[in-house]
Order: sequence, then C-alpha cells, then structure tokens
Amino acid sequence: MTAALERWLTLHATANTSSLASDLYPQLTDALDAIGAILAADRDVGGSEMRTDSLGAPELVVYARVEARERLEQQLRTVADSLLIPLGAAPDIRGETHEGSDWREVWKQFYRPMVFGAGALLVRPSWIPRRRGDPEREVILDPGQAFGTGQHETTRLCLNLLARLARDGDQPKTVLDLGTGSGILALGAARLFPAARVRAIDLDPVATEAARDNVRVNGLQDRVEVLTGDINAAGIDPYPLAIANIRPEVLLPVAPQLARITSPGANLLLSGILDEEHDAVAAAYAAPAWRLLDRPLDGEWRALLLQREGVG
Ligand SMILES: C[S@@+](CC[C@H](N)C(=O)[O-])C[C@H]1O[C@@H](n2cnc3c(N)ncnc32)[C@H](O)[C@@H]1O
Repeated sequence: MTAALERWLTLHATANTSSLASDLYPQLTDALDAIGAILAADRDVGGSEMRTDSLGAPELVVYARVEARERLEQQLRTVADSLLIPLGAAPDIRGETHEGSDWREVWKQFYRPMVFGAGALLVRPSWIPRRRGDPEREVILDPGQAFGTGQHETTRLCLNLLARLARDGDQPKTVLDLGTGSGILALGAARLFPAARVRAIDLDPVATEAARDNVRVNGLQDRVEVLTGDINAAGIDPYPLAIANIRPEVLLPVAPQLARITSPGANLLLSGILDEEHDAVAAAYAAPAWRLLDRPLDGEWRALLLQREGVG
C-alpha cells in the first residue's frame, strides 16, 4: 500500500460576520452543514465534517482529492456565497494540501456507530466492534468516495422511515434504491426486509464501485444488485418499495417514471429535499398517482413518505 504517500486536500469554510454573531451560529452551522452535503455529492469529495472553534463559531471541513482543488474551491465558493451572504455573513474559504497520511485515516476519527429507527438498525464502521446491546441488524460501512455514511440528515430520514415501514409489517419482495451512493439505503433495506431483493442504481461509477464493495463487505451479494445508470436501469419491475435520496432537480422529472415502475399500494421514500423545496416536490408526486403519508423534518431537510394509489 502506498497510502502513506498519498496527497489529499482539506477545504475549510467559515463565515465572517461584522456583528456580534453568536446568535447567528445555529443558522451558520446549518448553512455550512448544507454546503458540506452539497459538496459531498461530488465524486472527488470523500466527506465533510463540522468543527467549532473555542467561541463556538462553526467551520466546515471538506476532505477531497487534491487533483480537484481548483474546481472544488470554486464550487465551494459559489455555494457558500449563495447560502451565507443572505444570512449577512461573508464566506471565508481556504484550502490546505496534506501529504504523508491517507485522508480516510484522518476522517476516521469522526466516525461513530449510529443507530436508526429507534434501535432497529446499527450502521458502524468496520474498525469499531459491536458492543453488547447493539441492534442485531447492522450495516458495516466505512467512509469512502461515495455519499452516504449515515451522518447526513437526508440519509438518516430515509433509514428511520425504512425502519418504521419494517416495524409496521411491510414486507416488500423487491426494493429500488435510486441514487444509492455508498449503498447505505440499499443495505439498510436488505437488513430491515430480510426477504427483499434490492436493486441499487447510481449514475456515478465511482459510487457504484464503492456500493459493490460495501455489498460484499456485508455479505449481501445474493440480494443486493448494484447498477451504474439512471432510472432506466430500474427496469419495469413493479416495485412495492422505492427510495430516492437525490436532489429535486432529479426527483421532479422522474415522477412519472417512478409511478410507472411501482406497484399499486407501493411505498415511495423521497429525500434530499430542503424544507423550502418540499411543496414543489409534493406537488409533482400528488393525486391521482400518489398519496402523501408523512413528511418528516430533520434539520432543514425533509423526506416525503408517499403511497401509490391502488390496492397493493
Ligand atoms: C445524496 S446522494 C444519496 C446517497 C445515499 N443513497 C444516501 O442516502 O446517503 C445522491 C446520489 O444520487 C446519485 N445521482 C444523482 N443523479 C442521479 C440520477 N439521475 N440517477 C441516478 N443516480 C443519481 C449521485 O451520484 C449520488 O450518489
């Protein structure tokens, strides 16, 4: 392994305000967190985390490939301008390159096991062993190049909703995970619905490679299939359960196709939707095809739980 010689990048974003701004810290934290989530969808970004200085001021740190520095710095600047300036804050962006240790090793210290769905599912990194009392159903997931570690609100919303469906006795035979990233939702669904076969799709081949690795690590190759592509890779299976944690730019145009490839009575979980965007997404997924069952909020993100009209 040549990991010791790897060069990697951290991008740091903070928000300067002219006033005594500690009142603004919660809003700035949310905005920086959202910026980190947007950057995390990039194939050259490994992940992001929030830090706070001794006064409680938030800082976003993004871990990324050094080769993408210029492009990512520009992207970070653009996104930070659009989310921080309206709050009265000036974004301060800087990049640092590092050498001599793998960024994944550094990032590891921010990983902790996480429990979803009120004790239904454990997601843990491979280097932290199970502890007594941990949920029996688990997904092992290490940080990698693909979005989806369980730390982000949009992922959390989906895992909690999946656990709720499982608790309510839902037993889908097939599940579609559109925009699978690391494969976390596909793996979570496979654990929560032990009889289900899961098709996991992502446009990004780096994500599908990571997802396939994660499927192998979890020993779920017989039930979770990972494909590179868009919604057309879903085929025409009438899925009784579909999940898509993607931004509305993708969710809106695929609404008719998702209605065609889900069965009557199917459940659909949509995530990746900011609170202020959810009315528009709900309007695209409305009667006569869909019924809105719930729209839980986590931070500034919302998920939609929908049910296809008709008898399942
Ligand atoms: C926010 S991540 C979600 C990852 C994971 N499912 C989770 O919940 O943490 C969205 C993923 O959707 C993928 N994606 C974006 N547009 C897509 C499309 N049109 N079809 C399939 N996947 C897409 C991205 O590559 C990214 O991996």
